[in-house]
Amino acid sequence: MKNRLENLKEEILQELNKVKDGDLLRELEIKYLGRKGELSNILRAIKDLGEKERQEIGQLANVFKNDITAKFEEVKKEVAKNKGEADFVDVTLPGKKIAHGHLHPLTIIQSELEDLFSSLGFMVLDGPELESDYYNFEALNVAKNHPARDMQDTFYIDKKNADGEYDLLMRTQTSPMQVRAMQKYGAPLRAIVPGRTFRCESTDARHEHTFYQLEGFMVDKDINFSHLKGILDLIGKKLYGPETKLRMRPKFFPFVEPGANGEYSCFLCKGKGCRVCKYTGWLEIMGCGLIHPEVLRAGGIDPEIYSGFAFGFGLSRLAMLKYNIDDVRLFNSGDLRFLEQF
Ligand code: DAH
Repeated sequence: MKNRLENLKEEILQELNKVKDGDLLRELEIKYLGRKGELSNILRAIKDLGEKERQEIGQLANVFKNDITAKFEEVKKEVAKNKGEADFVDVTLPGKKIAHGHLHPLTIIQSELEDLFSSLGFMVLDGPELESDYYNFEALNVAKNHPARDMQDTFYIDKKNADGEYDLLMRTQTSPMQVRAMQKYGAPLRAIVPGRTFRCESTDARHEHTFYQLEGFMVDKDINFSHLKGILDLIGKKLYGPETKLRMRPKFFPFVEPGANGEYSCFLCKGKGCRVCKYTGWLEIMGCGLIHPEVLRAGGIDPEIYSGFAFGFGLSRLAMLKYNIDDVRLFNSGDLRFLEQF
């Protein structure tokens, strides 16, 4: 009996040494001190002993019980103290830093322009990237064998239509949305279309097969060149500051008449001439003009009643100029070293 008690004490002390948390401690308490625990079994067995032994073992068992209970209390305090330390929050410590994502430079410019145009009552429209030959070219007054198609070679989808022609392609410009929007909303109409465009390019630092454009157009009665000029002037000042000057020079685009190149005084050298503007003082930013009567007709709008202007430019090019980015391929690279700078 004495041995049993001593062995049990030894075992309990060993187990208690291993205790790190309250759960294990409770398990041990039940196992050794509980009503059905081992100590209770021994205590119950005492009454069957002979008189002398009963006294001796009884005393021993009492001392044993007190010792063990005290030891349990001690461990319990220790566990509580550790738990307290783990729960303690030092509010004076600096907080954990949460990593923030970055807006893509193209998204930043696009949002700025969307804000500007929304404030002028323009809708912001989205269009299909997989476009038909009709909307991408023909409806824009670019006939099948027109040389203007040369500059906009793209990716054709390997599927013929009923006439045996390949007529699905990745849009080369956001301009097809002019006719789609006219057909859907009619006149009067004001909208911009930011979006992804594609060309079959040999890629290098200035050319990429996938890039971004923003198209804008307005159709109403009595729209004329001065309305276009006013809007372009506003875009320039928004992008490059209030000092920015606008210059327009004639340029041919099949879907406008007259057509022009919109150029802004260089934001860097303020028109004096520098590397960014190739020492001309001007940045060629966009194509623009008054919407060709054929295009209005394709959109179901009578050119005798309505007129309109349109403009389009590369968002990628704008972002390159604004942030001094020297390789267009960085935009689609997904390279965090690039993106984290914005
Ligand atoms: N879509 C033309 C391009 O990608 C740019 C352009 C020129 C858009 C003249 C227009 C415009 O709306 O009037 O080169």
